[in-house]
Amino acid sequence: MSSASGRRILLGISGGIAAYKSAQLARLLKQGGHEVRVVMTQGAQAFIAPLTLQALSGEPVRTSLLDPEAEAGMGHIELARWAEIILVAPATADLMARLAQGHADDLLTTLCLASPAQKIMAPAMNQAMWAHPATARNAEQLREDGWQLLGPDSGEQACGDVGPGRMLEPESICAALFDATSTSTTPAVASSNSGLHIVITAGPTREPLDPVRYLSNHSSGKMGYALATAATELGARVTLISGPVSLTTPPGVQRVDVETAVQMAEAAEQLANGADVFIGCAAVADYRAETPAEHKLKKRADEDSLTLRLVKNPDIIAAIAGRARSPGRPYVVGFAAETRDLEDYARDKLTRKNLDMVVGNDVSLVGLGFGGDNNAALLLWRDMEGREGRQELPPQPKIELARAIIHHALSQHSINSH
Ligand code: PMT
Repeated sequence: MSSASGRRILLGISGGIAAYKSAQLARLLKQGGHEVRVVMTQGAQAFIAPLTLQALSGEPVRTSLLDPEAEAGMGHIELARWAEIILVAPATADLMARLAQGHADDLLTTLCLASPAQKIMAPAMNQAMWAHPATARNAEQLREDGWQLLGPDSGEQACGDVGPGRMLEPESICAALFDATSTSTTPAVASSNSGLHIVITAGPTREPLDPVRYLSNHSSGKMGYALATAATELGARVTLISGPVSLTTPPGVQRVDVETAVQMAEAAEQLANGADVFIGCAAVADYRAETPAEHKLKKRADEDSLTLRLVKNPDIIAAIAGRARSPGRPYVVGFAAETRDLEDYARDKLTRKNLDMVVGNDVSLVGLGFGGDNNAALLLWRDMEGREGRQELPPQPKIELARAIIHHALSQHSINSH
């Protein structure tokens, strides 16, 4: 974690159960050497007392737009100008909707509208609320307006549901925030990962048998392209090495087209140099024809069968993960597409290919995996000390799953590299 200190941070807290974590967040921000002023919505005060935040921030907590006493101290426009960074954590679904609409009906929304500060939020809400199209629309609008969204995290929720919607842990929020403030000297930079280069492989490979036929698989590229989108949303520079798919390149992504596994291996070998994270989402053919025919293979009238001799393709991800730790080896995330014993096979790939993280997906489940718009995953990872982590991500749109995967990968990468 980088630790750029001395920034003026306005911590906005809205009314969700995660508000209790904001006390720890305020403490960590102060410890990071930042000046912190807290603004709470009315809802937030039902979850945590302003006095707690006052004690931790060392400043009076503001709760009301029309408070003559507070306005006499530092007027709200002055406060809006004072802030270099506005960090809203937790940001509830309601607050996101109001901010997306440009409301200014309480102190926090007014400050967000009036301030030129860099704006970052950590959404927190029930998983169904996060998955609702209205929230997705609001999140998209906020990103367009320059907000940076951190998370949400996925897992068990206070209400008992399981899924994406939990506020990121204060330590992860601080890590992302400190990265942002250390790479940015102006409020205009809206990314905590602007220094990161992420290389992603996506789609199938095609292994020619002759000039008109090939061996391939059902990968549509959707999962890999969703990862590329999610990584650019977080401000990373993304290079997408793509097998043949019929998808448009996500905005801001540099795309390199390949056909065969050997071509993908060559591109990956080169582009992974200096990259921070490498994600192998492509469904790479394990074998190719030893000698593709120069001309179209003809059906033989005298033979009922045809024998193809296949040879092994290079294992792209294992080669990159096998590099010496530093320099030159990125944080490596592989996928495991399985039809049975998902956890066992995924763990085996994590170990055998020397990966840092593996995303296991059961491609036998109807509507998930290859081709469709939804997927589910089991994340397994191992840190530098060999400690293992495990997280189940339930069925959800590939873009949401991609955001959760990228978030986990970047959190682990950041922990491992500090
Ligand atoms: O593209 P979609 O239609 O959206 O479908 C998404 C997906 C199901 C393809 C994706 O989620 C997925 O699981 N991708 C990995 C598919 C795969 O090839 O898995 P595997 O278990 O065979 O390979 C394990 C890992 O090794 C993968 O990271 C793969 O990219 C990598 N590999 C495999 C073979 C090889 N020669 N080189 C490799 O780098």
